[in-house]
Amino acid sequence: MKPLKIGLIADVHYAQRPNNSGKRYAETLQKVQRFYEAARNQGADLIVQMGDLKDEAPGANRQQTISHLDEAFQLFRSFSVPVYYLLGNHDLDCISREDYAAKVGGEANDRYFSVDVEGWHLVFLDSCYSPDGTPYSKGNFFWEEAILPEHELKWLKNDLENTTKPVVIFLHHCLDAWARENQKHFLLNSEAICQVLEKSGKVKMVFQGHFHPGNFSSRNGVDYFTLKGTIEKSSGFGVLAELKEGRVEVKTIL
Ligand SMILES: [Fe+2]
Repeated sequence: MKPLKIGLIADVHYAQRPNNSGKRYAETLQKVQRFYEAARNQGADLIVQMGDLKDEAPGANRQQTISHLDEAFQLFRSFSVPVYYLLGNHDLDCISREDYAAKVGGEANDRYFSVDVEGWHLVFLDSCYSPDGTPYSKGNFFWEEAILPEHELKWLKNDLENTTKPVVIFLHHCLDAWARENQKHFLLNSEAICQVLEKSGKVKMVFQGHFHPGNFSSRNGVDYFTLKGTIEKSSGFGVLAELKEGRVEVKTIL
């Protein structure tokens, strides 16, 4: 079986708004274009957009914010390989899940799913829920508080039981809470999720975003790779994952 090559990019935060602390919101799509060209040159079979695709201008209104999402989505849509989309908290600031789905496609709620590609089982999670299980939508949340709801965790457990393939997980928020102290970027129920992943014995890698400096950690046979935020000044945001012979190799391409 040929290796599966996946281009990964996180936290694009595109918006027509003034620069702030080195974040150049209006220019971030140029970085996405460069990432796509690098991923294509590396032979990427598919691309995963890891959430927080857009941002919003101060005092932004819904229509203007939808236009940011639309513009960013049009760029990803122009790529010649399939793109999978994860929801991030900023994707649901002053717009609703329905607004998001109307542009990007798919269901408004419970945007989690899995697919089998080239001998691998890829799982995409929807991590945008408040601790009481309310789906994030139209800014009805506090960004430091997110969980994977009970029904999704149950689905995940079942999904992992029913595959015989090696698994890679993708989600916007971070799960490896043991790896850093005093950070605000983890799902509040991450320990329970990690135990499900570990017990399955099938999960090789978790790709996550949200924490812009990026990170790598490993526990009980599962690796956790946190992508750097594209919106930040630093390079290293464009990543290519090569999945072959049950292993995941990751390299920076931009
Ligand atoms: Fe985020």
